[in-house]
Amino acid sequence: MNLDPAGITLDGGNGLAKQLYLALRRRILATPGTYRIKLPTSRNLALALQVSRNTVVRAYEQLYAEGYISSRVGDGTYADGLAAAVVAEPDAQAAAAPAMRQSAMQGRLSGYETRRRMSAGPARAFRLGIPAYDLFPNQIWGRLQSQFWRRAPLAEMGYGDAAGNLRLRELIAAYLRQARGLACEPSQIVITAGAQHGIALCAQLLLDAGDKVAIENPCYPAAAAALAVVGAQLVGIALDQDGMDTSQLAQHADCRMAYVTPSHQYPLGVTLSLARRLELLAWAERHNTWVVEDDYDGEYRYDGTPLAPLAALDRSGRVLYVGTFSKIAFPGLRLGYLVLPPKLVPALTALHAMGDRHPPAADQAVMAEFIAAGHFQRHIRRMRRASRARRDALLEGWAPLFGQQLPLPKVAAGLHLSLPLASAGQEADLVAKAIAAGVELNPMSRFCLPGQAVNPQHRAGLALGFAGVDEAAIGRALLSLRQAWT
Ligand SMILES: Cc1ncc(COP(=O)(O)O)c(C=O)c1O
Repeated sequence: MNLDPAGITLDGGNGLAKQLYLALRRRILATPGTYRIKLPTSRNLALALQVSRNTVVRAYEQLYAEGYISSRVGDGTYADGLAAAVVAEPDAQAAAAPAMRQSAMQGRLSGYETRRRMSAGPARAFRLGIPAYDLFPNQIWGRLQSQFWRRAPLAEMGYGDAAGNLRLRELIAAYLRQARGLACEPSQIVITAGAQHGIALCAQLLLDAGDKVAIENPCYPAAAAALAVVGAQLVGIALDQDGMDTSQLAQHADCRMAYVTPSHQYPLGVTLSLARRLELLAWAERHNTWVVEDDYDGEYRYDGTPLAPLAALDRSGRVLYVGTFSKIAFPGLRLGYLVLPPKLVPALTALHAMGDRHPPAADQAVMAEFIAAGHFQRHIRRMRRASRARRDALLEGWAPLFGQQLPLPKVAAGLHLSLPLASAGQEADLVAKAIAAGVELNPMSRFCLPGQAVNPQHRAGLALGFAGVDEAAIGRALLSLRQAWT
């Protein structure tokens, strides 16, 4: 059959060749596979459509390149009809998608995107999870980046080691040994795109669908989601002033993993006591359980000496330590690390290689230089000072305004604090009024696992991040809260 140009309309604007290519492709896709279509010569089609011959030639070239048409010397240009073949128009693909069988992963993810409440945009009081990144030394970082690129680092522009930049791993190992009392080898470290990525890798590697995971309740929702998405069954363990109530673990001998934030529990802000750390490790040894230790803000300790991480107390190679640069540098950097029991390194590195291979080589190399030149340690001290000052501004500003009815707890670590409330109704009321006044407050109920063991005093409350904005902004937010609440 000959292709009839009647019915092909081009709107005369830009991109005529593209429009013609799409119109011809539509015809070919709509013609049954038993037909062979003969296309007009480029000259005749150009005349029929009143376009330049060049336009038709370009459209034909595109169809050739994609295998829709072929030509025989002396015999013209042909296409085989493709209707009912596997190729479908994008519109048809979209329409067909709902009929596809859903994978278990799709099922677990459904609705997650709308449930997730991610605070985006510029920092505001009292957003959770953000450090004083307004103090990040951008100029130093920029200088190190341009030094990296001026070096024309061909060796680092190809595929790198999936475990990460070796120099960076050596520096992290030295830092952890000195600052956190965690003796580890660079070969145990895998550089990730942040703590969240590290937690997700641990979950993917070590859990099968249906496996039980003991998790603090209330907990960090994004970690709970990363565990649930691989099919884990979450077993909430209640908390008190000393962190996770490890005595409850005795009833859960069948857990494959425990996920904990011992340095500074998220979101309550309490620290897991030494006795409980030892109890958790003994339980894990008894029942052959992995322990994922999320040390997301371990650098922030204001009073007292920090307790050794679980990974430093682990005698049987079952603790996976998760660290991040998000809370010292800035979250958008997307750099973190895992410290693994040696036996897990090959498999986890292979899993990493199959996903995103490794974080950008330039950022890893620049972070290594940032640490080696002493900027990292200096910046930690600056961040600790700033966060302490911001914490104090919140505590001191809060006390005269709300201290009577809503006293804040002492906070010796981290970037946030939380306070209990009497009821879910009070929580909803205070949060709604704060948000209407432009102040970000997080309801404690958001962090609770539905239907799971939770200390009654943690069912309702408020969680406040104090590090993301400066003292003046904290003061202004407190005044807005006073207006909103009274
Ligand atoms: C408890 C906890 N773990 C992990 C993360 C994730 O950090 P990252 O930005 O490194 O993925 C956060 C971020 O707020 C957090 O609060």
